[in-house]
Amino acid sequence: MLIKVYGSSVFGVEATTITIEVNIDKGIGYYLVGLPDNAIKESNFRIAAALQNNGYRIPGKRITINMAPADLRKEGSAYDLTLAIGILAASGQINSEKVHEYLIMGELSLDGGLQSIRGALSIAIKAKEENFKGLILPFQNVKEAAIVKGLKVYGVSTINEVIDFFNGEKELEETIVDIDKEFNKSLEFPDFDFADVKGQESIKRCMEIAAAGGHNIILIGPPGSGKTMLAKRLPSILPPMTLQEALETTKIHSVVGKLPGIGLMTQRPFRSPHHTISDVALVGGGTYPQPGEISLSHNGVLFLDELPEFKRSVLEVMRQPLEDREVTISRAKFTITYPSSLMLVASMNPSPSGFFNDAETPGVSSPQEMQRYLGKISGPLLDRIDIHVEVTPVPFDKLSDERKGENSFAIRKRVVKAREIQQIRFKGLEKTHYNAQMSTRQIRVHCVLDNTSKLLLKNAMERLNLSARAYDRILKVARTIADLEGEDKVNGSHISEAIQYRSLDREGWLG
Ligand SMILES: Nc1ncnc2c1ncn2[C@@H]1O[C@H](COP(=O)(O)OP(=O)(O)OP(=O)(O)O)[C@@H](O)[C@H]1O
Ligand SMILES: [Mg+2]
Repeated sequence: MLIKVYGSSVFGVEATTITIEVNIDKGIGYYLVGLPDNAIKESNFRIAAALQNNGYRIPGKRITINMAPADLRKEGSAYDLTLAIGILAASGQINSEKVHEYLIMGELSLDGGLQSIRGALSIAIKAKEENFKGLILPFQNVKEAAIVKGLKVYGVSTINEVIDFFNGEKELEETIVDIDKEFNKSLEFPDFDFADVKGQESIKRCMEIAAAGGHNIILIGPPGSGKTMLAKRLPSILPPMTLQEALETTKIHSVVGKLPGIGLMTQRPFRSPHHTISDVALVGGGTYPQPGEISLSHNGVLFLDELPEFKRSVLEVMRQPLEDREVTISRAKFTITYPSSLMLVASMNPSPSGFFNDAETPGVSSPQEMQRYLGKISGPLLDRIDIHVEVTPVPFDKLSDERKGENSFAIRKRVVKAREIQQIRFKGLEKTHYNAQMSTRQIRVHCVLDNTSKLLLKNAMERLNLSARAYDRILKVARTIADLEGEDKVNGSHISEAIQYRSLDREGWLG
């Protein structure tokens, strides 16, 4: 008998429906065709054991399985359940009437239990589009799939439940997630709040400006000064994610299988990869392409702690994705794109010794050592960082101060207001949504200076020996400062403040 069952293949962040035809005939043999990879080819061993352990079997006949479309490579072990149900239906061991109405996915263990799969959200979106009656998948993935409205989603923990369902012996329980409720609830409580940070008012101000204009930022300070603590709190002052953004981000995390048990990601992600990370793990790729850290940071924050410790090649490969806000992975036969719109926060010590070079600190680094250290980060990546800020540890009496600082909620209100101004400014533009994304031409239009401010900037640039590249960045940041104040025009005080955030451009900085 010939039976059709349906599975799904995730390609990038989009799913494609896979039609699996199972034909059982006289003879002997097991043939699986349609570009399956080794994991799928091995599925017959898992399926045989899982069926046997539950009182069923792979019939000793000629079994031919075709996975279509034939030209698309199918990967992984998530088709085990689909294939097993197909074989049971084609051999008359279960009722085959309804199997074609459902999209079925799941990896089997030998006892018939189900293991989680990747890309459940993308799969559910596709299943909805193609009007399947429901999606049956491992219970571990049910919450992410149930985000999709208008699709019945069933989480199962063993193959037996699926068998009973198709035989009409037991119903499956539909999982329903109220995303609007989840979404609204989570907006109020960020995991990390700026209220926990004592003192550091000027740094908090910088982070507010960075968040308001979407500016990448680098924190320069000795160990223990609170750089990591501050960086972790940046997502809490960024504007709340829109549902669209939450879906995009969740999709990417779903594809790498990082969501077991969690539904919609309603908080902006914060990713902090170690400096020994490989190029592929950072930007994505690999034999079976997967999104990297920069895509997992999509709509959130990527924190590169100890920036000069990263391999130069790793920093180089980030350039394009940072600019384009997406990663493109090209192979001979296909191209995959992963979104990667993120805010970069980097941190570094002021010198290889870890501390600011001043008279009181021991182990002062020589100018050569300093140059080597800074040389590692200069150029391409530093060019994409608008704000440099020096972080000094807060003194003990401030640390022990019981009073709480301003909370993230209050700061975020101002950020949101400044972003609204930018939304109006850049309305209808495809590539520019906030100040940090302005091109040189847009800067000329939106950051017009009067003569006094012009002179101020010119003098400061000469006095501090600021490089030409600093010029545009100062203007962009000044624009954001003006937006935070609700000012139409960029004035001298905005410029003066923005100039302070260019530490690394200053010749002979930090002594
Ligand atoms: N301003 C502050 N308010 C409250 N706690 C602070 C503050 N600064 C530092 N701390 C405390 O010090 C700890 C160390 O800070 P953190 O790890 O953020 O420093 P760091 O600059 O990242 O150091 P390293 O260079 O070693 O990574 C924090 O976990 C926090 O408990
Ligand atoms: Mg740290």
